[in-house]
Amino acid sequence: MPPLLLKAETVSLARKKILLGVTGGIAAYKAAELCRLLVKAGADVQVVMTAAAQQFVTPLTFQALSGKPVLTSLWDAASGDGMEHIHLSRNADLLLVAPASADFLARLAQGRADDALSTLCLARACKLAVAPAMNHEMWAAPPTRRNLGQLQADGVQVLGPAAGEQACGEVGLGRMLEPVDIMSALSGLLGGGALAGRRVLVTAGPTFEPIDPVRGLTNLSSGKMGYAVARAAAEAGAEVCLVSGATCLATPAGVRRIDVQSAADMHRAVLAELPCDVFIAVAAVADYRVDAAAAQKIKKTADDLTLRLVANPDILAEVAALPDAPFCVGFAAETEQLAEFAEAKRLRKKLPLLVGNLAQDTLGQDAAELVLFDNQGQHRLPRADKLTQARNLIAHLANQLN
Ligand code: C5P
Repeated sequence: MPPLLLKAETVSLARKKILLGVTGGIAAYKAAELCRLLVKAGADVQVVMTAAAQQFVTPLTFQALSGKPVLTSLWDAASGDGMEHIHLSRNADLLLVAPASADFLARLAQGRADDALSTLCLARACKLAVAPAMNHEMWAAPPTRRNLGQLQADGVQVLGPAAGEQACGEVGLGRMLEPVDIMSALSGLLGGGALAGRRVLVTAGPTFEPIDPVRGLTNLSSGKMGYAVARAAAEAGAEVCLVSGATCLATPAGVRRIDVQSAADMHRAVLAELPCDVFIAVAAVADYRVDAAAAQKIKKTADDLTLRLVANPDILAEVAALPDAPFCVGFAAETEQLAEFAEAKRLRKKLPLLVGNLAQDTLGQDAAELVLFDNQGQHRLPRADKLTQARNLIAHLANQLN
C-alpha cells in the first residue's frame, strides 16, 4: 500500500495584518521570538507596548524585528493625526496581546482605555486574542477567574496558558504558550482554513469506570492522539470541543475542553454538544462498566470477588446512526489483523472514515503509523509524530468533507 501524500492545510499568515500587544511580564522576551516568527511567516506586524513591557524589553528590539516603529504612547505628537489607537485596528486581521499580564486582563475586562494598548483594544474593529502569562497563584486567583470569564463572554479568545516551571521558580499553570504554539493557534483564529466555520467534536483519553469510590477500571490511553487531533482541527479553523477522560495534557490553544470520567459521562457530554459537523471519536472508551458500583469502599473479606460488568453505550455508533449524523471518524486500536478488524468495525459502525493503528505501536507513544479506511480503500500514513498524523488526518477528512 503506497503512503498517502497529504498537505496539511493551515491558514497562511502571509500579508495578514497583526497587531502585537506586549504587556509587562517576563514572558515579554518570548514575544520578541513570536514577532520574529510572525514576520518570517509573511505577516505585517505592528507592535504596541505598555509602559511595563518596556521595563522588560526595549521598543527598539521589536522595531528591529518588525521593521516598524513601536507604538508606546497615546500622546505621540509626531505620529500623523495622533489617532493610531483608532486607525490601527481598522484594517488589522487580529489584535494579539502576548504576553497578557494579570493586570492587563483586569484592565481589559473593565474596558479601561488609559494607555495606547488598552485604548486600541477598546476601540478595535478586529478579533482580539490574549496569551496570558503570570504566576500560577495569580492565574488561579478569584479576580483573575472573574476577569477571564468576562473576557470570554466578551468574545476574546484566550490562548493558554501552559503549565510548567515559572520564572519565579514555582511550578504551575500560568506560563505563556510557546511562540510556536501561539503561531499554530493563529491559523484557526484567522479563519479561511480547511475546516473554517465547522464545529468539530473530539473525544480523547481513557474512561474510568468506578468499582467503588476509590477504585475503577481504566486503560492505558494517554490522550495524546485525541489532543493532537483537536489541535489540528483548531489549526484548520474549526470551532473545536474536546470531551476528555483523565489525562495530564494541556488543552490545545483555542479548544474548549469538557472533562469527564466514565463512558456514561462521556456519552452525556457528547450528546449535549450535538449538533456538530464532524465527530472524531479518539477516546478509548471502556466497553463495559461495573453493574452496580459500591457506594462505600469494598472490604477484603473473601478470597475472591466477582464484579458483574454491563455493556456501555457505543457513543460513536450511536452518533453515526442519528438521522442528521455528523461526518463520523472512528479510531480502531487493534493488536492483530488490523486491516480486517478495522474495516469490519468501520462497516459495522457505518463510518465514512476510520483510523486504524496497532495498539502496541501507539499506546502512550509520541509517534504512530496509521492506516485510514474509507470508501475508496486503505491509505497508509507512515510512522510520524502524532501532531503530524493528526494534521494529515484532518487534511484527508477535510478533502472528503468538502
Ligand atoms: O468498538 P471499538 O471500541 O473498538 O471502537 C473504537 C471506536 O469507537 C473509537 O473511535 C472509540 O472512540 C469509539 N467508541 C465509542 N464508544 C464506545 C466504544 C468505542 O465511541 N463505547
